[in-house]
Parts: sequence; structure tokens; C-alpha cells
Amino acid sequence: MPSGDASDIGPKGPATQVKDYIDPDGDLSFGSPTPTEGAELWNLARETGNLDVNSRYGYVLWCRDFAATSVVARDPLGVIAGFITGYRRPDAPDVYFVWQVAVAPGFRRRGLARRMLDHAVLRMRSNGVRYVETTVTPDNKASMRLFESFAQANGADLTRDVLFSEQELGSGHEPEVLHRIGPFAGPARTLEGALPD
Ligand SMILES: CC(C)(COP(=O)(O)OP(=O)(O)OC[C@H]1O[C@@H](n2cnc3c(N)ncnc32)[C@H](O)[C@@H]1OP(=O)(O)O)[C@@H](O)C(=O)NCCC(=O)NCCS
Repeated sequence: MPSGDASDIGPKGPATQVKDYIDPDGDLSFGSPTPTEGAELWNLARETGNLDVNSRYGYVLWCRDFAATSVVARDPLGVIAGFITGYRRPDAPDVYFVWQVAVAPGFRRRGLARRMLDHAVLRMRSNGVRYVETTVTPDNKASMRLFESFAQANGADLTRDVLFSEQELGSGHEPEVLHRIGPFAGPARTLEGALPD
């Protein structure tokens, strides 16, 4: 059983949460999720209505084992605004694979997903990451634009290729198109401008 009991989370999140970065735009704080926050990530994933939602256990476990490569954003009251879950591929550790990005409806179209992505990748670039990968279904214009925008800002190539077909995914699932961004060169670029590696 994973450590951390997610059953006692109130609407404003765990009071003991320690955040490592204050978002310069909008008073949000960014940090690595803990297992006690897993249920909130699970709830937000369900609320989006278009993500492939895993079990609650899956999110709690993720927040234990992939916390360092994931980001959760909260407002000053502690309300969850968004998250990114991702991991470095075991067979290709210079690749950061973004599994899910979710932003709560009230926080959308304000650059939050971009800033969370910038935040996650900035940390990993100084630690050897040269590519970002994710999969997007062809109908998800917001997600496609998010990764295009990120690639453009970083002067990196973006290639697309079907990774998993409808046949592999089954149940009428749309194909998942692999977006591969990189290799990164030069200093990382965020929405706020260039930052040193
Ligand atoms: C996709 C999602 C994470 C974007 O979050 P967001 O915080 O609103 O995105 P941002 O404000 O950072 O926008 C990033 C870019 O995408 C564009 N964008 C955002 N939403 C868009 C939409 N609905 N349609 C078209 N473009 C959109 C923005 O204009 C911006 O582009 P720009 O840099 O050229 O200006 C959010 O819509 C969401 O949670 N959707 C449901 C879950 C999902 O589909 N996740 C992605 C798949 S894992």
C-alpha cells in the first residue's frame, strides 16, 4: 500500500503542503505533488471529461513514485488549479514524457498549462532532458496548441506520428499522436523570457 492517506483531503487541499516555486503571474504556487494530493489530481482529471482517467490509486501511487517529474499548481487558498504528470522514460532518460496536463476550467486560457510545462522542463533540462514527448488525440486543439507554443518558444522541432492506433486502444478510442519536441539547444525559454540553464 502506498504511504499517505488521501481520504482526509478537504476542498482546499492538505494544510501541510510545501511549495517550491511561486508563479510570477497570478499568485499560484507550483510544487511536486505528494500522495495526499493524489485524490485531488484524480478528481480534476475526471472533471476535464476528456482525459483517460486511471484509478484513484493510480494517481496516489503516481504522486509517490513520479512526484519529482510532476507539478501541481494551487491558488492562494490552496485550491488546485492544475497539474502535470510526467516521467523520464526508463529506456531513454533524456526524454521527458508528459502523461497528463489538466487545468481547472476557471484557470484556463491564462497561460497556466504553459507555465507548468516550462516549470517542469526547466528543472529537467539542467538534469539532462533534451526532448519532450506527449500524445494528443487529433480532436484536442487546446493540447496541440499548448505543445506547439512550447516548441516554438524553445526554438525546437516538433514532429508528429501516430504512436497508438485505434485498433491498439480499442473501444472507439481516437489514435494517440506522438508529439516529440527537441532536441533543445541554447537557454531554456519560458513565457517570461530566456532563463539560464
Ligand atoms: C489543454 C489545457 C491543459 C490547456 O490549459 P490552459 O492553461 O488553458 O492553456 P494555456 O493558457 O497555457 O494555453 C497554451 C496555448 O494553447 C492555446 N489554447 C489553450 N486553450 C485553447 C483552446 N481551447 N483552443 C485553442 N487554443 C487553446 C493558448 O492560446 C496558448 O497558445 P499561445 O501560446 O499560442 O497563446 C486545458 O484546456 C485542459 O485542462 N483541458 C482538458 C484536459 C486536456 O485536454 N489535457 C491535455 C491532454 S493530456
